[in-house]
Amino acid sequence: MFETVTLCPPDAVFGLTEEFKRDPNPDKVNLTVGVYCDEQGRVPIMRSVQQVEQRMLDEQQGHSYLPIDGLPGYDRLVAELILGPDHPVIQQQRFATVQTPGGTGALRIAGEFLKRQCDVSRIWISNPTWSNHLQIFRAAGLELQTYDYLDERGTGLDFASVCRGVDAAQPGDAVLVHTVCHNPTGVDLDAEQWVELLQRISDKRLYPIFDFAYQGFGAGLEADAEPIRRFVNGAPFQGEALICNSFSKNFNLYGERVGGLTVTASTSETVQAMLSQLKSIVRTTYSNPPRHGGAIVEQVLADDSLRADWERELDGIRERIQSLRDAFVDRMAEVLPGTDFDHIRRQRGMFSYSGISADHVERLKREYGVYLLGSGRINIAGLNRENLDYVCTSIAAVLGDGG
Ligand SMILES: Cc1ncc(COP(=O)(O)O)c(C=O)c1O
Repeated sequence: MFETVTLCPPDAVFGLTEEFKRDPNPDKVNLTVGVYCDEQGRVPIMRSVQQVEQRMLDEQQGHSYLPIDGLPGYDRLVAELILGPDHPVIQQQRFATVQTPGGTGALRIAGEFLKRQCDVSRIWISNPTWSNHLQIFRAAGLELQTYDYLDERGTGLDFASVCRGVDAAQPGDAVLVHTVCHNPTGVDLDAEQWVELLQRISDKRLYPIFDFAYQGFGAGLEADAEPIRRFVNGAPFQGEALICNSFSKNFNLYGERVGGLTVTASTSETVQAMLSQLKSIVRTTYSNPPRHGGAIVEQVLADDSLRADWERELDGIRERIQSLRDAFVDRMAEVLPGTDFDHIRRQRGMFSYSGISADHVERLKREYGVYLLGSGRINIAGLNRENLDYVCTSIAAVLGDGG
């Protein structure tokens, strides 16, 4: 009965990890996956998370279902973390948050909502983007349109092209923006460019989806949220938005699937209607979100001292990634003088578009066991003092021999 089923190609990122595992090279380095690794190459459990988990074990709250939209305390704290507790949207109750299984769950629910409730048929997405964006919105029934994001070298922003993309959209289309730490490139808009882009989105009456998977990885928790806070504040912007956030990265809770979809509107009545529709979509998709990760985040955010410790640890992660960026650029200048990797210093977040070509990426993998994505994307957070020199000398060997 199932003979007609054809093989689906493996996910590019997870496929490379499988290849990496099979590689017998003792020096191999995996810079493909999207997780933060510490100096020992482990995905660390944050101190605040450990404390809360110990407390949970002692208190044994049980495993009953959560409400369809998740833990109420979590939802409120998430909205406050994104918008700031004093933001007018929070004060005037013009938001609703639904706890979702990761940022992916939030994006899918957002796509379904726009398609079913707002009659949206098209979504504009940067090229390149996180590859799953394309699959998620296609699966939600939206037609994909892309706008070019990078300059000719492929390592910096082409802002004019981003604006052209938004200008080409039709009123009532959706547009997805990476709020900070663009994945896969690490290339972000500056404050002035954000104001201009948000104005164009408003003027065109587009539905914006802010993908916010890296809050705290750019310049800090508050600064990273600035484009969203400005936009939803209203005039001169239209103020209504969908915000998809994730705690996979900034809590290192990848496998616990913790995220949220926050919507804002001009009245609290509208928001309540939106919430009811979001819940109806959730009910038929996964019924209700997983409990454990959401409960951890809620307890950390609600406790002043745990929260302060989480913020300190997150600051440390951001600073360490920047120091890895600096160390990479400095070492490349030593081992291959004359090459310019300075864009890696300026790009932000876990990922960087290195500018290394697909052919060179292939040779790095085959000859040195250094794994990058075919696009040349490096997970900077996969570097450490132990492997940095090997990675840089391998890149220098491949780029330097003219092959
Ligand atoms: C840009 C972007 N959005 C969303 C996500 C989804 O995150 P999650 O693992 O929480 O589903 C990711 C994860 O890599 C991402 O890079």
